[in-house]
Order: sequence, then C-alpha cells, then structure tokens
Amino acid sequence: MEDVESIVARALAEFSRAADPAALENAKARYLGRSGEVTALLKGLGALAPGERRGAGARVNAAKEQLERALEQRRGELAGARLAARLAEEALDVTLPGRGRGRGGVHPVIRTWQRVERIFRSIGFDVADGPEIETDWHNFTALNQPENHPARSMHDTFYVELKDAAGTPLVLRTHTSPMQVRYARMHEPPIKAIAPGRTYRVDSDATHSPMFHQVEGLWIDEHISFADLKGVYTDFLRRFFETDRLQVRFRPSFFPFTEPSAEIDMRFESGPLEGKWLEISGAGQVHPNVVRNFGFDPERHIGFAFGSGLERLTMLRYGIDDLRLFFDGDLRFLGQFA
Ligand code: FA5
Ligand code: MG
Repeated sequence: MEDVESIVARALAEFSRAADPAALENAKARYLGRSGEVTALLKGLGALAPGERRGAGARVNAAKEQLERALEQRRGELAGARLAARLAEEALDVTLPGRGRGRGGVHPVIRTWQRVERIFRSIGFDVADGPEIETDWHNFTALNQPENHPARSMHDTFYVELKDAAGTPLVLRTHTSPMQVRYARMHEPPIKAIAPGRTYRVDSDATHSPMFHQVEGLWIDEHISFADLKGVYTDFLRRFFETDRLQVRFRPSFFPFTEPSAEIDMRFESGPLEGKWLEISGAGQVHPNVVRNFGFDPERHIGFAFGSGLERLTMLRYGIDDLRLFFDGDLRFLGQFA
C-alpha cells in the first residue's frame, strides 16, 4: 500500500493546482469522497492486525484532518481570487470626470403650443384635437371650397392613397380649419374652442415648412363680430409676447370660408429680421355657408375664426429668421431654449 505521506503529498499538490472551485471539489472527491483514496485507507484499517491498527488509524486520521484543513484553506484562496478578479473587472475610477447626462428641454415650437393653450384656456376656450389625415370634405368642401374651386390651389396638398367612403382620396390636412367643422358639428353654440396641431403642405423655404403647426380658433355665438376677433386676438398677442408695445396689422385678404377675411402680420422687434413684417395668421368672420355646414342657422349664429402658424409665433418671440432651424435637430440651437 502506498504510504500515507505520499498520498497526502499528491493530494496537497492537486489541491493547490486546482484553478477553480469545481476543480478543487473534484480533487477532494478523489481523496476524501466516498470512494476516495484516504477513505479507502480508513476502510482498510479493519483488516489490519490489532497491534498495527492503532498506529495506522492515528496516521490516517491525522492525514485526513490535514487534507481537510488544506481544502478549507484552498477554498478560501479561490473565493478570494474570484472576488479580487471581479473587483478588478468592475473597477471604478472615481477620480475620472463625469460624462454628464445632458439636460433635455421642451422644443421651442411645443413651448409656443403650450403657451397658446394656457392663454386661451384662461379666457374660457376649450382645447380640441383631431385627425391629421383628413377627408376632402372636411379639409375643403365643408369650408366652402367645392371640387374644382380655384381656391383649392391656394394650398399645395399632399394626397394619401387611402380613400374615404365615397372613393375620394384622403389628404394630409393643409390647415387646422377642418377642426372648425368637426368641433362645431359635435357641439352646440356658444362655441369657443382652439385646435392646435400639425398641418402639411408642399412648401419649403425659410418661412415655410412641409410639416408645420397651426392653431385654429373658433368663437360662434349670436353676436360675435369681427371687432371681437380684433379684441381677442390682440389681447392674446399681448399676453403671448408679454408686452403691449406690439406692431400688428390686420391686412384685408381672402379665404373662401370667411367673409370678411384678413391676414395678421407682426413686426420683428429684434433679431436678424428686426423691423421686417411676418404673416402669423389668417382670420375672419365665418362664412354663412360654413355656419350652415356646422349645422347651425347663419341668420342666428355668427362668429369668427383664425388659423395661426406656431412656428411663425415662435420666430417672432425669439427673433429667429429661418424656421428650418426648428426641424434640423441641432442641439446647439435647441439647447438655447432648454
Ligand atoms: C390658412 O391656413 C387658413 N386656414 C387660416 C384661417 C383660419 C383663415 C380661419 C380664416 C379663418 P394660411 O394659408 O394663410 O391660412 O396659413 C395660416 C398661417 O399658417 C400663416 O399665416 C402662417 O403663419 C402659417 N403657415 C402657412 N403655411 C406655412 C408653412 N408652410 N410653414 C410654416 N407656417 C405656415
Ligand atoms: Mg396666408
């Protein structure tokens, strides 16, 4: 029988060679497991002559204890090494400067949208929302622009492949005015509502974008006049721009859905366009045909509507000369509004 010392020496060598806990436990099984070499020695003691049994038993038991101690120690070393490796892997240099998160902010045009809503809500206007893909009837016909009406070419329209029930192609709404019709057909006068949202036209330059935002306004009652339009709109502009010293003009214009009609221009107070005029809105007294399409009697119900460009209001507020900046996503520009 191989002597106890050399078995112990082999076991110790294997324990210290074991590179990970699994290898160590396998080595343990080879010596101390149920059919391990040291276990076999213990089992073999019974076969020895009684005289030899005592001395041999003491040696084998001492060897077993020595190996158990060595095993414990090696387990501790391997666990320590594992922890050290993890710590090294997850090392954190707390002296490195932070990367920073960057601060988000609300887009300037959306800020305008929110401001407009706040101001109109405070004077009793409801805020409505509606579809951006619109029927031809809501976008044009109900607004007094029958098929083939020349006024339809005032807007360069994006058509959609989808068609309405009558087989007429749907359009990306060219203005928020169809919301006048949708809102009025669902409510009874007095009607006092705004409808902000996205609108689309085949249009692109420094003051025109193919996707832009308008806010529609509609006030219908028994005696709402063009004078009320001027009062309400001027008051809105004073609150929006936070000053009474505004240069605003109502310029006679034409829309099929209002009569009389006006366009509203404002002068830049600052920025590269200082002193220049910019159109911000169309407006007018709602045309009797449109009031009829609302489902009301134009002999009794009358009022005004306007449709203003949110990008244009934002340009004037901050003195910006090119609305394409709003859509470029350049953080150097957008960060100034955060
Ligand atoms: C209209 O869209 C009418 N629906 C407005 C209206 C409503 C009149 C109710 C009467 C009663 P207009 O095409 O002028 O009108 O557009 C209104 C405003 O939207 C413009 O004054 C301008 O501020 C803005 N706007 C128009 N086209 C663009 C564009 N491509 N990019 C950015 N803003 C635009
Ligand atoms: Mg116009």
